[in-house]
Amino acid sequence: MLQIKDSVAVITGSGGGIGLALAKHWVENGGKVVVADVAEKLLQEAEAELKGMGGDVVTVACNVTKEEDCARLADTAIETFGQINLVAPFAGIIKDGMMVAPDRESGKVTKKMALDAFKAVVDINLTGVFLTIRECAERMINHNCKGLLCLISSTGSLGTAGQINYSSTKAAMSVIPKVITAEFFRKGLADRIRCVAVAPGYVGTPMVKGMNQKALDYIIGQVPIGRLIEPQEVATLVGDIYRNEAMAGEVFFIHGGLRLGSKG
Ligand SMILES: NC(=O)c1ccc[n+]([C@@H]2O[C@H](COP(=O)([O-])OP(=O)(O)OC[C@H]3O[C@@H](n4cnc5c(N)ncnc54)[C@H](O)[C@@H]3O)[C@@H](O)[C@H]2O)c1
Repeated sequence: MLQIKDSVAVITGSGGGIGLALAKHWVENGGKVVVADVAEKLLQEAEAELKGMGGDVVTVACNVTKEEDCARLADTAIETFGQINLVAPFAGIIKDGMMVAPDRESGKVTKKMALDAFKAVVDINLTGVFLTIRECAERMINHNCKGLLCLISSTGSLGTAGQINYSSTKAAMSVIPKVITAEFFRKGLADRIRCVAVAPGYVGTPMVKGMNQKALDYIIGQVPIGRLIEPQEVATLVGDIYRNEAMAGEVFFIHGGLRLGSKG
């Protein structure tokens, strides 16, 4: 079993939402945290809150789509704390829309997803994760660290209408743990650095709470436990997977019993 106490977590997107909940969970359990986000105001607020809890915390303003930012993030973790034990690349966005949307009356396509909306989601949710874990894993190997790369997939990985961009990136999150685990196994590293993904359903963060009430009511109506998942519940799952070294190469769903798959 690994212990969170004195371990170092690098968490992107931790200015808010699930990333911040994970940062708090780490601090509550005696861990140290590198808090990274593109939104500098959120970063400052997160830093104040975590330090107020007595946390050993450093913040890094970082756009995960930029290679040099991700390298600086990983370097900062090593320079500040000497090691990296958990990498949680949780920065993510949604830009929903149908790929093509025919008009009700004419039956002809009047709207389609813009290339920019597709690319922006892929850049942050997929390329950003690749850059974050590549740079952090390099330092973990070179500095003899033990730990976990914990990606964040989603129930959307199974295919959600209106999310061709988001669902595609989250499907990628569920295959990357298998790729990395196989690569690390081949290189004799798999017992030192594990890779998994957690796949939440609807979590009560700004990403979901920002929906209109009608859409939110509909969503909650689909969840057998009758509520949104709390960000802290996802954070606790990540902590449990971190400690338990038998958990590797897999995707762990946390969705309150949501019936999965596309409903059209
Ligand atoms: N909320 C949900 O229901 C849910 C469900 C499944 C998976 N997820 C995933 O969990 C992760 C966190 O989502 P959340 O709900 O906490 O969202 P959130 O919007 O509350 O937090 C996302 C954070 O990422 C940051 N960010 C955005 N672009 C960035 C960039 N280029 N570089 C660095 N930081 C950037 C934002 O500033 C924000 O603080 C995302 O990857 C999301 O896809 C969320």
